[in-house]
Amino acid sequence: MLLHVRLSGWACWCLFSGVFSVFSLQQRLTVNLNGKWRLSNSNGSLLLPAQVPGCVHSALQQQGYITDPYFRFNDVSYRWIALDNWTYTTTFTLSAELSVKQKVLLVFDGVDTVGSVSLNGIAVGKTNNMFCRHDFSVKDLLKDGENVLQVGLLSPILYASEQRKAHTSYVVPPECPPGVQKGECHVNFIRKEQSSFSWDWGPSFPTMGLWKGVRLEAFDILQLVQVSSVPLYNDAFSQWRVQIELLIDAVQTARGQLTLSIPELDSEQTFQTHFNPGKTKSNFTILINTVLEMTPVSLLCYPPQVYFRTVELIQEPVVGSPGLSFYFRINGKPIFLKGSNWIPVHSFQDQVTPDVLKNLLQSAVDANMNALRVWGGGVYEQDLFYEICDELGIMVWQDFMFACAMYPTETDFIQTVREEVVQQVQRLKSHPSIIIWSGNNENEAALATDWFDIPASQRPKYIRDYVMLYVDNIKKLVLLYTSTCQMPLIP
Ligand SMILES: *[C@@H]1O[C@H](CO)[C@@H](O)[C@H](O)[C@H]1NC(C)=O
Ligand SMILES: *[C@@H]1O[C@H](CO)[C@@H](O)[C@H](O)[C@H]1NC(C)=O
Ligand SMILES: *[C@@H]1O[C@H](CO)[C@@H](O)[C@H](O)[C@H]1NC(C)=O
Repeated sequence: MLLHVRLSGWACWCLFSGVFSVFSLQQRLTVNLNGKWRLSNSNGSLLLPAQVPGCVHSALQQQGYITDPYFRFNDVSYRWIALDNWTYTTTFTLSAELSVKQKVLLVFDGVDTVGSVSLNGIAVGKTNNMFCRHDFSVKDLLKDGENVLQVGLLSPILYASEQRKAHTSYVVPPECPPGVQKGECHVNFIRKEQSSFSWDWGPSFPTMGLWKGVRLEAFDILQLVQVSSVPLYNDAFSQWRVQIELLIDAVQTARGQLTLSIPELDSEQTFQTHFNPGKTKSNFTILINTVLEMTPVSLLCYPPQVYFRTVELIQEPVVGSPGLSFYFRINGKPIFLKGSNWIPVHSFQDQVTPDVLKNLLQSAVDANMNALRVWGGGVYEQDLFYEICDELGIMVWQDFMFACAMYPTETDFIQTVREEVVQQVQRLKSHPSIIIWSGNNENEAALATDWFDIPASQRPKYIRDYVMLYVDNIKKLVLLYTSTCQMPLIP
């Protein structure tokens, strides 16, 4: 077995970028299940075509059942949509090539949010976190001829309220948004874009849908599920290395040579490897001999080359003042961040086109910004967002998706958050644009300045929850998955 991973990438700023192509003797077969699905509500009064990726609101608008959701009080008029349950259905035919593969995965890059997946009438799995990718092993459920794939989606409003009711021991505030927002309650009980239940700047459209791609992936022996890489600097030897992490899914024990190459750095190394059946994470280090370090302030586009950068968050005593400094050093040089807060571009993510993203990000650069914060009440942005930021030299302050609330810490909740954090950190950590990970938006301030009138006697409970979620879980996972690159991290 020979697995050859070619790592390539460059951008015009100080970066090591993570664009990968993979060649393997055992080619993976991918069947795209995006496109037109059928969508129906729970009593069957509505049956319409729906685009995947997409959401119920977009489908209803595209088919003329509703008009512009942003018009006047349509947020209130269309409240019924997210109070109903909806089912997405598609059919597909199995090819001969696919049916002989040893393993077949049904992959959802994102389900919004509370879903039950079935294939040919048999339950395959459940989802309850918009920010997680899901894969289900379905080889045994597939049949020759037509296959029927269905995803039932439960009203997120109903789900949030049921989760709230199950949490009987104490209140996790806020219960509801301010009345003037005409929003929905208990959004902190569902792992979903928090502003979709309304925000002070935006309407309540609790989306439901298959908001990212759906496909089958079929393979023999093994497939590469994910590649991520981080450049590491060794002070003692003044040397750069690139640490490459592979997530391999093997059907059977596989032994062989693995060649990792970075053509732009003229670096290539071969490793003897051995993978047991199941998913295995492995970690390889390539030494880099010559590197180019970029100055962070330049927005010029350099020729295709790979550049390296370090980031330090400097917090040190300031002579004559209380408190500590708070600034970044990029490749040893202090830098002034001039930026903005980035909220979701649209209530319906499927309507955010590449052109819209490019235009907004270029506009930020044209306005002399060099930084954006991906705000914790929205979504972890799509890959293209970070790719454009890499290229334009926009530095990203990346929040985790928690905002202006306390959050529950039941085992199930913590478990799904852990999965979300691991997936998102692995997806995003290769992007040089990200300079810092931050636990949440304003939740510490909410607790410290008592936004929710929590009686003093009960505060320790909420502080314990805060520490459990952000310090004991999220922070530890970020350190585990990025520790060697020493990314700054708060809180
Ligand atoms: C079916 O559901 C729709 C949308 O929620 C609702 O407007 C309609 O009254 C329902 N029809 C019946 C017969 O219950
Ligand atoms: C949606 O499904 C839940 C759970 O099955 C059910 O309790 C609720 O009544 C359904 N809502 C509608 C509008 O049918
Ligand atoms: C990668 O390998 C290093 C060194 O062996 C180890 O410290 C680190 O925990 C590994 N990282 C992961 C994510 O497995």
